[in-house]
Amino acid sequence: MRILVIGGAGYIGSHTVKQLLTRGHDVTVFDNLSLGHRRAVPAERLVVGDLRDIDHIDQLMVTSRIEAVIHFAALANVGESVKEPARYYTNNLIYSLNLLDRCRRNGIGKFVFSSTCAVYGTPAVVPIVESEKKSPINAYGNTKLAFEMALADYAAAYPFGYAALRYFNAAGAAADATIGEHHEPESHLIPIVIQAAMGKRPHVEIFGNDYPTPDGTCVRDYIHVDDLAAAHILALDKITPKSGQVYNVGIGRGYSVRDVIRTVEEVTGSKVPVKEAPRRVGDPAELIANPDKIKRELGWSAKYADLRSIVETAWNWHKSHPNGYGE
Ligand code: UFG
Repeated sequence: MRILVIGGAGYIGSHTVKQLLTRGHDVTVFDNLSLGHRRAVPAERLVVGDLRDIDHIDQLMVTSRIEAVIHFAALANVGESVKEPARYYTNNLIYSLNLLDRCRRNGIGKFVFSSTCAVYGTPAVVPIVESEKKSPINAYGNTKLAFEMALADYAAAYPFGYAALRYFNAAGAAADATIGEHHEPESHLIPIVIQAAMGKRPHVEIFGNDYPTPDGTCVRDYIHVDDLAAAHILALDKITPKSGQVYNVGIGRGYSVRDVIRTVEEVTGSKVPVKEAPRRVGDPAELIANPDKIKRELGWSAKYADLRSIVETAWNWHKSHPNGYGE
């Protein structure tokens, strides 16, 4: 299939591109490299451009005869979204709606969207099923939920189909350690803990130790980035016109911040200095997926079914790329 991957040089995008190429798809990556990395994708696949430049994308859709779009390009930092909602609504909603409409106008009938477990806000029941009430507690989650609504309306009205994947916490790196996670500045827990284990940070701050969880720290469902990438490909294969599906993508198990720290210590063999810190704004206590729907409907399952195996791949990436893509 001829696939345009918007934001394909980012963390989850680049792992998906790698798998798409292995499966023989004709992939065009479009990325402005503001958060993505040139070295995360094959040079001959990359078109450097900005989502704001919708005419550039339109031109690519036509000249490359694109059949499907996978849309990763977004700002995805919860805390930042609370402080700077304007940037989030502009990037994640306005520009994304422009992209969606160019798909419609160019007759592109398949769209895979990066959604998030943040659409559930603070869920009443955990593990979370897709039908759980959607009530985001931050601007990031609101922008993603609003776009899901637009997708549903488009699929109802036009010859267009989509899948929205509600990611839980993406983690880990490719099994061959050629690509991995690199954010500037880093805000995600696993790379931060690994950097502290490597002596690149003095300590890890634990954001809140008084949550109603077994050890008082937040519990998350960490999902390996390659399992997440595989979910995109399975979802894309199943899209039919005028249909839309949403899927939770997580392993269905939760780990606390302290579990993550302990696991990184075991995997790296190094002690991680910690500091207790106040809660971070916008963090729900516990987010765990119920992934039964994607297992049942798409035959998906997590190859990395526990935290340790995920952290091992992250460690291999950080060990071999101590400066991420910067080296
Ligand atoms: N945490 C710390 N110390 C740190 C960094 C994180 O204690 O230095 C904690 C956070 O408070 C949170 C957990 O570790 O409880 C995981 O934090 P991350 O920043 O790694 O991930 P988030 O759970 O905040 O974010 C993820 C996705 C978002 C998504 C969000 C939904 O990256 O895109 O889940 O809540 F929106």
